[in-house]
Amino acid sequence: MAASPESLWYKDAIIYQLHVRTFCDSNGDGIGDFPGLMQKLDYLQELGVNVIWLLPFFPSPLRDDGYDISDYTAVHPSYGLLEDFKAFLAAAHDRGMRIIIELVLNHTSDQHSWFQESRSSRENPKRDWYVWSETDDHHKGVRIIFVDTEMSNWAWDPLSKSYYWHRFFSHQPDLNYDNPAVFEAMWNVMKFWLEMGVDGFRLDAVPYLVEREGTSCENLPETHAIIRELRKRVDQEYPGKMLLAEANQWPSDVCLYFGEADEFHMAFHFPLMPRMFMSVQLEDRKPIVEILEQTPQIPDSCQWCLFLRNHDELTLEMVTDIERDYMYDEYAKDKGMRLNLGIRRRLSPMMDNDRWRIHGMGDNVYLGDRNGVRTPMQWNGGWNAGFSGADPERLYSPLISNPVYGYQAINVESQRRSQHSLLSWMKRIIHVRKSSRVLSRGSIEFLKPSNHRVLAYVRQLGEEKILVVNNLSKSAQAVELDLRKYKGSIPIEMFGGNLFPRIGDLYYLLTLGPYQFFWFRLRRI
Ligand code: NOJ
Ligand code: CA
Repeated sequence: MAASPESLWYKDAIIYQLHVRTFCDSNGDGIGDFPGLMQKLDYLQELGVNVIWLLPFFPSPLRDDGYDISDYTAVHPSYGLLEDFKAFLAAAHDRGMRIIIELVLNHTSDQHSWFQESRSSRENPKRDWYVWSETDDHHKGVRIIFVDTEMSNWAWDPLSKSYYWHRFFSHQPDLNYDNPAVFEAMWNVMKFWLEMGVDGFRLDAVPYLVEREGTSCENLPETHAIIRELRKRVDQEYPGKMLLAEANQWPSDVCLYFGEADEFHMAFHFPLMPRMFMSVQLEDRKPIVEILEQTPQIPDSCQWCLFLRNHDELTLEMVTDIERDYMYDEYAKDKGMRLNLGIRRRLSPMMDNDRWRIHGMGDNVYLGDRNGVRTPMQWNGGWNAGFSGADPERLYSPLISNPVYGYQAINVESQRRSQHSLLSWMKRIIHVRKSSRVLSRGSIEFLKPSNHRVLAYVRQLGEEKILVVNNLSKSAQAVELDLRKYKGSIPIEMFGGNLFPRIGDLYYLLTLGPYQFFWFRLRRI
């Protein structure tokens, strides 16, 4: 189906990842909720984001922060009612923002009624909805993802005296996609939310949907067939909606999830993410350039979703063993900062709160699992950081309160007052980024100046060209760029609108302060 320009909205999206429970508590029970989130829509609009990705907000025993779902078509009572969600969705749409929600296809909570029925007897009609076995010796070589908590991908169910398959926590049994009824049940879940008006889904853990003996049980053709069928139905019945893949795989494997523009619209670029951290620490563009050059072209209607951090550990699955050791040595010396194959820290502390790299919210590595990066939003310096009126002991999580990152020091209200805060800078950069589609849709060509501490590239869309130059190092740098192809053009710096010297026959000389960057439009005037 030919995509209309409007249906390609996700290609330019600036997505704000948000967990309702962390954002704003409206009823003083210490837990963020939909009415609270609604009150903060002004803030998100002001920031300039145009899509909100909500983490799981469904009924759940919350043993994996909601990724353990016990009912797919309702709202967790702590977060409000379904009516509250609908009101939030309408208010976001009124502001021109789109909402994408989580779709956890691979597994449910063991508290889900489907699993309860499935384990109740071997004759139960839902028995075959999960992956059961008499022994735990199938799929022997399949890797364990949560290596710090799980010993096996099989767990023993004492009730039905057999083993069930799980790729994540043992309280998250995998659904059996060889049973068409499971697929239809999930399609009904999607229809439920699409009918309500959500704009798309982030599909959790997609590589693991189907298992086959003698394989890694990841990225199987049968899994791709399931995605293709979902996409076909979405396109037919709900055109303009978007599917985003969480597939933590190497570029060549992730690319398969775009298919021939008949699987996902978007996918996270997991291999690029750790390499941006490596490039900054090594003060060398090589890791970034290498991985992007190894990334195959994707269909025109598809888009990469680029990110630095999220609600999980900074995963180091898509790096070599040597690279992982380097990342641990540089960013997680303290073993308590590591989890599974990753680093459970927020961005700012990883950057030493260096104002030239980033400064923002801190983390709390003393909270277990990934909870240290899931603490409440810091709105102001008052009671509970303006997050909740509850007694502090009642909050779903303690606030960050140390002198450097604590809410008295780092909060929205104080950052709003300063032109030089991270918040104000973020608003500006989002504004500039939105001023040109070249930065989201353009082709990319790397320049290879001899100074490898500088990452420079030209992006082009039609006649429009943007030159980006980044100093990856902590000291000032000079760089000579071969821009002869653009001879006669004038670089216009995009934040200030100032004209730089016209490009001529010589290499173009630029000097950059520590971690400084330039975005230039190249114009023939
Ligand atoms: C990926 C999610 O990002 C993570 O938070 C979750 O624990 C696993 N999937 C299992 O659902
Ligand atoms: Ca609440």
